[in-house]
Amino acid sequence: MGIMIIDGKQIAQTIKEDIREQVADLTAQYGRKPCLDVILVGENPASMSYVRSKIKATEYCGFDGELISLPETTSQDELLRIICERNNNNAVDGILVQLPLPAHINEQAVINAISPEKDVDGFHPLNVARLWLGDETIVPCTPMGIMALLEETKTPLQGRHAVVVGRSNIVGKPVAKLLLDKNCTVTIAHSRTADLAAVCRTADILVVAVGRPHMITADMVKPGATVIDVGINRTVDGHLVGDVDFESVAPIAGAITPVPGGVGPMTIAMLMRNTITCYQRRMNK
Ligand code: GUN
Repeated sequence: MGIMIIDGKQIAQTIKEDIREQVADLTAQYGRKPCLDVILVGENPASMSYVRSKIKATEYCGFDGELISLPETTSQDELLRIICERNNNNAVDGILVQLPLPAHINEQAVINAISPEKDVDGFHPLNVARLWLGDETIVPCTPMGIMALLEETKTPLQGRHAVVVGRSNIVGKPVAKLLLDKNCTVTIAHSRTADLAAVCRTADILVVAVGRPHMITADMVKPGATVIDVGINRTVDGHLVGDVDFESVAPIAGAITPVPGGVGPMTIAMLMRNTITCYQRRMNK
């Protein structure tokens, strides 16, 4: 049994190729392209890099859209005005505000202002509620990308123990719900969990979304487990590492995602999928 390195980059590429073809058909059918507007406030280097990748993917898939780059000093009211204008613009299908926002802006107020039907991130309270109720919704991109990787690698989920390390609204909480929907027994662990290593060792599926380099070491992983590393941390010498100590964990894991090239590209592919979903729902309304 060799370990499987899960090639998220390749899987995401295949999904984007499918979407690109689908977009060509939909554009012919409905007479206009899907349109995603991306809003970036300030110059956080990581955010700038993510936004660049998102815009590149929209171009590849044949979407319309705009990058709205706003200065760090943009007021909350100004940002809300810009969102409101896109909400009311019938040609716009999706609105994404890159997080985090500068400290003087209330993030939740901004998320609340995005029309739920254009909320491609699935962060609006109405869409979050729908997710937890099991209603039709928009599922956040990273959790959906993780589930797509588990599906693609045919990882058995039913009845198995999934441990999610991290409890953010963007990843930890929603991915726990999606794993529950697949009949996993789910534990959400976090920085205050007592004996985190022992809890992690019981995981058949270990999802780590903390933002701390090398947090998960070999002694915390059950032999044969599937390890999904959501962390993207930049080291002092400039390269990217995950939350999992890949070198020591990979030989023990049954399957593992690399960083970069694991979950990251899947997030972007799922953003493309969510944009099409918003477009189709709006066109069919
Ligand atoms: N910041 C980190 N992840 C995300 C994401 O999925 N969407 C947005 N808008 N901001 C993020």
